[in-house]
Amino acid sequence: MTMQNLEQILPQAQRDFAACDTIQDLEQVKSRYLGKSGLLTEQLKGLGKLSAEERPAAGAAINVVKQGVEDALKARRDAILNAEQARQLAIESIDVTLPARSHGKGGLHPVTLTMNRLEQIFQSIGFEVAEGPEIETDFYNFTALNIPEDHPARAMHDTFYIDDKHVLRTHTSPVQVHYMQNALKDKSGPPLKIIAPGRVYRVDSDATHSPMFHQVEGLWVDEEVSFANLKGVVQDFLQRFFERDDLQVRFRPSFFPFTEPSAEMDMSWNGGWLEIGGCGMVHPEVFRHVGIDSEKYRGFAFGLGVERLTMLRYGVNDLRLFFNNDLRFLQQFG
Ligand code: FA5
Repeated sequence: MTMQNLEQILPQAQRDFAACDTIQDLEQVKSRYLGKSGLLTEQLKGLGKLSAEERPAAGAAINVVKQGVEDALKARRDAILNAEQARQLAIESIDVTLPARSHGKGGLHPVTLTMNRLEQIFQSIGFEVAEGPEIETDFYNFTALNIPEDHPARAMHDTFYIDDKHVLRTHTSPVQVHYMQNALKDKSGPPLKIIAPGRVYRVDSDATHSPMFHQVEGLWVDEEVSFANLKGVVQDFLQRFFERDDLQVRFRPSFFPFTEPSAEMDMSWNGGWLEIGGCGMVHPEVFRHVGIDSEKYRGFAFGLGVERLTMLRYGVNDLRLFFNNDLRFLQQFG
């Protein structure tokens, strides 16, 4: 053994340990120094060849190096374990700064948006909002509205019957009858001025007709109410609803049993006309059914198709899209 050799062992061991990245590598390298035939073990074995005087100093020197190697080994082992733990933590850690997965935000259905909008506009010009039942007796849906037994509107192919006497209302006009009766009962009118939005039902289905759809009824009863007022109110409403002054609206003479004279209203659509509602002056027979003096009072009424207004406002060309529940369609209105 030479001192030269001994001095080189520690720096060499430190370099070898530093080159190890895993505990397994380190164990391999450790045996090169501290194993049965490792460099330091060989040094210790060599002590036997020395004289008794030389031995203590040489043994002490070897032990110092051995201690140094063991310290370096431990330091490297700790460093490798720490690095492994840090790596493991990094893999398992949760990044709390990531934005949370959001819940889908809901929005209002386009038909609801239209209903809200038209209620707001009519309320701003003095109309109250009224409601009526969706299941009606045939008196309210038909008879009181001057629709006789044999009228085509009563035919099975238009009307959903619940039983002989009850139907799913086919229009919102029966609310007129309820409201006028109640106003007389509690002496709150006439005059009266209401709109009645709600669902109605018909055996009907294509691109512009749905078996369930929405109407908004309008009714204004007073001593001096004219057809000119009707046109003014409806036209004013449509211009505000569509935010357009150049709106193309057409009033077409028509027939409803509960109004006289009657008209239908169309708006330009896809190069043609789309019927948006019916209207007219309240028929004296209707006043007679509810008990209003038709010599004293006059009134106008209208019924608008809410889906049709929505189609025109948003440029939708098939009414069935409103009820297919396709989110790709509905999300466009959010
Ligand atoms: C009526 O229902 C009358 N009650 C309207 C009325 C009220 C007239 C007051 C006079 C006085 P009509 O059947 O035309 O009329 O329907 C009115 C509107 O509802 C139509 O112009 C149309 O815009 C809409 N509509 C009718 N059927 C459907 C349907 N199946 N799907 C979607 N909209 C419809």
